Amino acid sequence: GKRIGVLTAGGDAPGLNAAIRGLGKAAIGRHGMEIIGFRGGVRGLAEDQWVNLDHTSLSGILTAGGTILGTSRDKVHKMMVDDQPTDMIPTIAEVVERNKLDCVVMLGGGGTAKNALRLHQAGIPVIHLPKTIDKDIAHTDNTFGFSTALEIATDAIDRLHSTAHSHHRVIIAEIMGHKAGWLALGAGIAGGADVILLPEIPYDLSSIVETIERRKARGTNFSVLAVAEGARDIRATAELNAAESLIKTAPTPEAKAIARSNFARIQDEHRENPFRLAREVEAATGLESRVTILGYVQRGGTPCAEDRILGSVIGAAAADLIDAGETGIMVASKGEGAAPVPLEDVAGNLSLVPIDHPWIQTARDVGTGLGD
Ligand code: F6P
Repeated sequence: GKRIGVLTAGGDAPGLNAAIRGLGKAAIGRHGMEIIGFRGGVRGLAEDQWVNLDHTSLSGILTAGGTILGTSRDKVHKMMVDDQPTDMIPTIAEVVERNKLDCVVMLGGGGTAKNALRLHQAGIPVIHLPKTIDKDIAHTDNTFGFSTALEIATDAIDRLHSTAHSHHRVIIAEIMGHKAGWLALGAGIAGGADVILLPEIPYDLSSIVETIERRKARGTNFSVLAVAEGARDIRATAELNAAESLIKTAPTPEAKAIARSNFARIQDEHRENPFRLAREVEAATGLESRVTILGYVQRGGTPCAEDRILGSVIGAAAADLIDAGETGIMVASKGEGAAPVPLEDVAGNLSLVPIDHPWIQTARDVGTGLGD
């Protein structure tokens, strides 16, 4: 039988263990493979740190949050080693060779897709499984982690309504999602948020104030705002876009470095956005305004049924595809099943909410303000 490795990288997400288990059980049980698990993401791969996975270590993990293997956000081509960014791809090739691996299965999000593509291009056999609470990976219908995070964020918005209506307050719930608005949009609709702000739709304070004032005029003295962590007002969006294009067009590595640090500074300035927004809304509406940052709570705890199924389906499908000799692919979720997609099509290709998406139309239809 074949011998394979598995690792989990990037932010932890509910469903990772279900996917490890699905992969491992199908690999061992159905295909007679051996499987080892690298610890702490691609760093464990570079450092040859692994444990054997067998029926015993794979049992009892289906319902557990986080990842039994641990994770990190390292980049294979510039991993910090002795404080120096180091290209670890040749080292990883040696580790794969030494352990006689037919494939390394990498469970992760956008950053992991990029790592996987780099390894694939260096001739290392890899397969990527799409995991993220952000649902921002291209060419897959879904990503495990999203559904659980959506439930948690929705529950949070439900609970925030209690304080908002009891105290006649505006409450801003900051929801994760990186550069995509899927989580904020979904939770905003499901939780009945009065305003939803997304990175895909730069907002205008006056439009938000208008929505809150319209509610006030109807006698409703509170509002709950579902705000994606990546949401920016029109001015900040323009500033950030300009700074980003300066990085892309920088003629020299030195200029690129300066443009990068300039971009980081502007991004930092806007990190306090929800608090600034609360102050501005309070000043404009006279309603006390507060912020709740949902943070890592959204990634924590036991995966919901959908993510357990998705992780199991994708994990088991990966074992079948490895058995069939596939490499250099992501195992995408398609309908209720799975299908291979070339890594070249996935890496660096974010899936943002299209502004003509049915969910956006639904939010507008039910009278939710989108800040535009
Ligand atoms: O990708 C998942 C995610 O939780 C994003 O929503 C968020 O932007 C990011 O990870 C936070 O990263 P970290 O775990 O490094 O704080």
